[in-house]
Amino acid sequence: MGYSARVVDKVKLNVTVANRLTTSTYSERARSSIMKALITGATSGIGEALAQRFASDGHDVVLVGRSADRLAASAAKLQSIAPTVQITTEQADFGDLDQVRMLADRLVAQGALDVVISNAALIAPVDQRAAAGVPLTIAVNYIAPYLLLRRLAEAFPQHAARYLILGAEPAGSANLVVDVDDLTYQNVDLLFPDDDLRAFALYGHSKNMDVMLAAGLDG
Ligand SMILES: NC(=O)c1ccc[n+]([C@@H]2O[C@H](COP(=O)([O-])OP(=O)(O)OC[C@H]3O[C@@H](n4cnc5c(N)ncnc54)[C@H](OP(=O)(O)O)[C@@H]3O)[C@@H](O)[C@H]2O)c1
Repeated sequence: MGYSARVVDKVKLNVTVANRLTTSTYSERARSSIMKALITGATSGIGEALAQRFASDGHDVVLVGRSADRLAASAAKLQSIAPTVQITTEQADFGDLDQVRMLADRLVAQGALDVVISNAALIAPVDQRAAAGVPLTIAVNYIAPYLLLRRLAEAFPQHAARYLILGAEPAGSANLVVDVDDLTYQNVDLLFPDDDLRAFALYGHSKNMDVMLAAGLDG
């Protein structure tokens, strides 16, 4: 799943956007100053391409990833493309929600962000679970972004910022209704009749939950 920065302009993704616009609008800020953008899952694919785009446009970038080595490699690549911008890295495995909470604490201590892009995601086997007991796909794709984005938005309520959550094809997710009576997914058999497709159905559920998160963030 690799994309170049150029392809990111063209690829048709459902990107859910929530704004926390208070003191000024996001576009005023984008036009007038250097922004600080945070991108999760910035070590490959679309996330890395987005980071390259922000850095090339002169904005400071915070790369979030789960591997220290991959973060260092992505940061070095970015710094060679854009030597004057500030590139920082933050390590957290989104399958471990305690790491996500600690990441949020560190980021809040560093001050407000102008753009937060929730991009990290995976499609894990349905029986692979995070320590919290929920399927890993739900933990990484939905609960981790929920914890992180809510915390950042609530820490800086007066700061104009844009939150983007990379979604999935809406038509594909339309029939994947989240069962609120089974949020820990004890009945994975009910996700989809075909065993081979259940991991993708779970992924669709996580992306539907992300749409609800974005709606909740919209200020
Ligand atoms: N590619 C598509 O066709 C497509 C279509 C629609 C929507 N999207 C969405 O676009 C976004 C990016 O997709 P992509 O194709 O660029 O994916 P990708 O190349 O697989 O990159 C996913 C990123 O998420 C990170 N990640 C995975 N598990 C993680 C974890 N447990 N903790 C922290 N980070 C983790 C990965 O880190 P590592 O480098 O360490 O693996 C990687 O940086 C996703 O939200 C996806 O749902 C993609």
